[in-house]
Amino acid sequence: MGALRLLMIGDVAGKPGMRAVSRLLPRIVAERSIDLVVANGENAAGGLGLTPELARELLGMGVDVVTNGNHVWRQSEFKNYIGQEPRLLRPLNLPETQPGRGFGVFETPGGVKVGVVNLIGRVYMEPSDSPFTAADRALAALKGVKVVLVDFHAEATSEKRAMAYYLDGRVSAVIGTHTHVQTADEQIMEKGAAFLTDVGMTGPHDSVIGMRRDIIVDRFVTGMPHAFKLAKGGTRFQAAALEIDPSTGRAASIERIDIPLPD
Ligand SMILES: [Fe+2]
Ligand SMILES: [Fe+2]
Repeated sequence: MGALRLLMIGDVAGKPGMRAVSRLLPRIVAERSIDLVVANGENAAGGLGLTPELARELLGMGVDVVTNGNHVWRQSEFKNYIGQEPRLLRPLNLPETQPGRGFGVFETPGGVKVGVVNLIGRVYMEPSDSPFTAADRALAALKGVKVVLVDFHAEATSEKRAMAYYLDGRVSAVIGTHTHVQTADEQIMEKGAAFLTDVGMTGPHDSVIGMRRDIIVDRFVTGMPHAFKLAKGGTRFQAAALEIDPSTGRAASIERIDIPLPD
């Protein structure tokens, strides 16, 4: 059996991010023979959250699974929709009273089962249950599924790296999201898990993590509250391409993707 090829797309931010996915994803999937596409969609709705319509749009563009993060409930209609669409995930270790699910099993066109787990960090983030014990729970439920991709949505590089060591040997990849800044530390760990601290943002990079730079700079200078607005320029498509041995679940390669788009 040949290598399984997965693509993990960094936080899709607003219209520039959606446009980047629609323009580039079909070509990337075709050129690289991608079997399954996962995208973090927590910023699709103008930077804050995801609507049912935007979720459907992402799925229509060739994304197979949409993960989430701290902005998951920003758009109120999303909470009523997430349970109806099994290809939408939210972080597993959010309070269990919240709607939606934190992991799932998805089948590639070639018939390979891929587990996708969405976790959220606790360092410099809102309170949540332990992402580490939540990962144990998910992996117990995914017993027998060889290929498992984890989207760990977290702020601190330390927490993400610790998670990679914790899950190495039990998952195929731990890919960080949330900071919107792509790190250059991709690696295959000792026991075969691919790891990247943060895959970055598919959205406008002429910004402070996707938001208009003038507003964010003024917010830091004055300390006064401001309404955030999504930026426009410097759009980039940022993702990670993974090759996995489907018979063992071990990663063979991880490659960062960072493609600029004309404004
Ligand atoms: Fe984000
Ligand atoms: Fe986030």
